[in-house]
Amino acid sequence: RTLLASGFHAPDRGTIDVLEDALIAIGADGAIEAIHRPGDAVYDDVRAARLAEGTLKTLPQGTYLLPGFVDLHVHAPQYPQLGLALDVPLEVWLQTYTFPLEARYADLAFSRRSYGLLVADLLAGGTTTALYFATLHQDATRILVDTCLERGQRALIGKVAMDHPESCPDTYRDASPEAAIAGTRALIDYVRAHADNGEARVLPVVTPRFIPACTDATLEGLGQLAADCGCHVQTHGSESDWEHGHVLARFGATDTTMLDRFGLLGRRTVMAHANFLTEADMETTRLRQAAVAHCPLSNIYFANAVFPLRAALEKGLHVGLGTDISGGPSAFMLDTCRSAVQASRMLESGVDPARPPAERGTGPAARIDIRTAFHLATAGGGDALDLPVGRFAVGYQFDALAVDTQAERGTIRLFDETDAGGILDKILYTASTANIATVWVGGRGV
Ligand code: GUN
Ligand code: FE
Repeated sequence: RTLLASGFHAPDRGTIDVLEDALIAIGADGAIEAIHRPGDAVYDDVRAARLAEGTLKTLPQGTYLLPGFVDLHVHAPQYPQLGLALDVPLEVWLQTYTFPLEARYADLAFSRRSYGLLVADLLAGGTTTALYFATLHQDATRILVDTCLERGQRALIGKVAMDHPESCPDTYRDASPEAAIAGTRALIDYVRAHADNGEARVLPVVTPRFIPACTDATLEGLGQLAADCGCHVQTHGSESDWEHGHVLARFGATDTTMLDRFGLLGRRTVMAHANFLTEADMETTRLRQAAVAHCPLSNIYFANAVFPLRAALEKGLHVGLGTDISGGPSAFMLDTCRSAVQASRMLESGVDPARPPAERGTGPAARIDIRTAFHLATAGGGDALDLPVGRFAVGYQFDALAVDTQAERGTIRLFDETDAGGILDKILYTASTANIATVWVGGRGV
């Protein structure tokens, strides 16, 4: 199959590549086999040949291709709570609302319904890859795996491990370290057996919820398991004053140091939030090539801090963006992009007019722009996961969305923009789900 399309991608931070009437050839494995641009020697011949064969699909005028979004931090079971309970501290929110909601996934009919809605809505919003925390339940987590396979979303899924009797309620806790570790291994085995599609479109993830929720034995066992199975690891780290302080008080060391000691900080680790990383933590994260899932919207409500995104990028950390459903009240990755820009601007300039300008914020060079956020939401997230997604490049999976800038019910209003940059910025800042006409994962319409 070959697509004739115009569009945009951000293959590197600071680089926007504009495709104009490009021919994108997609192989049976869903990977991009070739990209031809007008002016290339073979362009006219390839175009004519595909037309004659009837294998050329042409995107309409005014419709632009973007790489699919990579949501680097989603709590799948929290979708029913999106937009609710945003006014209490993290530790209260977990105990009062979140753990009781997650406990409901013992009910498989509820799980099927909730996960079906979530995956459909995320795909409709252009999220082609999601890194999911599920619940501690084996059966419900298998339903999430099955749902992603059925609907065609690329997904990385972890059974949550949480067994610390002082941090987790009796009604929602792994019974023992052995149960947490065996349950994690069982889910890995299930994914590897069932997602046996050659393309590994659904992958298993070792998922200690966060250090406060896990006993030492569980953290040790999961570190060992991650080394044995070579799969991804996800957790929360250095999120809020309370969480960061809890780990310091328990171990006399930061989340990053402790994750590293437990063997949970490697090339395929994604740590959500990371607001309180010290200089030394950033260096450890960089050396291990671990990634940060920056969740700007969630951090506004629960973290009491803003992640120093630009500093982390300039140090060379892998960073992607996460909605943190339902810590953040939006499931749409473009909202997350917009929030990342806004948070960075507030970090830079500060917000309290009672202070002198020089003392209001961190000062120069904390801001990022919307195109950098777009890079992080696509190629940055793909790189963080070490997966070939997020770019229009040969060998990368064709995970993409088509944005219809003229959709009547959409929210993009183009006036006389003729330059590509203006069209891209309007898409990034003003598009809504109603502007997303088509979404592909691995070359397949979903
Ligand atoms: N820390 C531990 N669990 C959670 C969660 O579900 N959401 C957020 N934002 N932080 C957490
Ligand atoms: Fe989270």
